Amino acid sequence: MKHFLDINKTDVADLRGMIESAKAIKTARNGRPKGAPDDDLPLKDHMVALIFEKPSTRTRVSFDVGVRQMGGQTMVLSGSEMQLGHGETVADTAKVLSRYVDMIMIRTFEEATLLEMAEYATVPVINGLTNRSHPCQIMADILTFEEHAGPIAGKKVVWSGDGNNVFASFAHAAGQFGFDLTFTGPEVLDPEAGFLEEARAKGVNVEIERDPAKAVEGADLVVTDTWVSMHDAPSARERRHNLLRPFQVNEELMGNAKPDALFMHCLPAHRNEEATDAIMDGPNSVIFDEAENRLHAQKAIMKWCLEN
Ligand code: CP
Ligand code: NVA
Repeated sequence: MKHFLDINKTDVADLRGMIESAKAIKTARNGRPKGAPDDDLPLKDHMVALIFEKPSTRTRVSFDVGVRQMGGQTMVLSGSEMQLGHGETVADTAKVLSRYVDMIMIRTFEEATLLEMAEYATVPVINGLTNRSHPCQIMADILTFEEHAGPIAGKKVVWSGDGNNVFASFAHAAGQFGFDLTFTGPEVLDPEAGFLEEARAKGVNVEIERDPAKAVEGADLVVTDTWVSMHDAPSARERRHNLLRPFQVNEELMGNAKPDALFMHCLPAHRNEEATDAIMDGPNSVIFDEAENRLHAQKAIMKWCLEN
């Protein structure tokens, strides 16, 4: 059984294979209508359950479209409308769904829910975001970086803002794809130290630099994300904004990075909070390529999950 749970839990050669496969899948689409099927239909006669316990635009639509283009069918399920949201165990849900569908993608709160789903499902399970990580996003981001700037190995990636779930998957990817990673943000919002140590143990340079201007020096890629994630208490908004304002990605900050440094944001964005419009819509921004590449990267991930 091949689950796609996290970038640090997936073999390096398999990850590289998925990125190359995603590039080929994207090229093969070659400007066709979005509703037209691919030539290669690895999901033909397959049913995929897409479970959402949190809101989503990109993950929901890109998985749904991707499955259909690869010949399969989808069932989009909201956690609150399932018995899962009313006391049925994750294990029982996993066993039942495995009798009906060929693959499960889940977006949930606790990582434990994802892990329990994977433990008890007899079909592949894909992590569509938890409070702790967002691996499909970072696979799309690696694809995006390499399309614009070539191999990511040895490059410098700087994250400015909250040490959240999306950062965690960048830390996982740093070790696996071999790029250097600098985190700049307030100490109280630091990422889990273990994520950084794990990447360092794989031989890449991972740093925390409190001064955002210094952090972005020499950066090939600058990344940020919302200051208040879906799992954060709405009451924490003001405190988080006050802590994170100095780490806003704006023209002054980007001026310290390499002139051709790319800018990424997984979206959804809170415009002119974590990044200014001048950056979001500026010449170095690749935010909509990232969104498109969710489709191609996830098709490669689903294809990999089905290969034995
Ligand atoms: N980036 C991302 O996962 O977006 P959605 O929340 O819209 O799925
Ligand atoms: N960090 C954000 C990412 C959304 C795609 C969240 O978890 O809400």
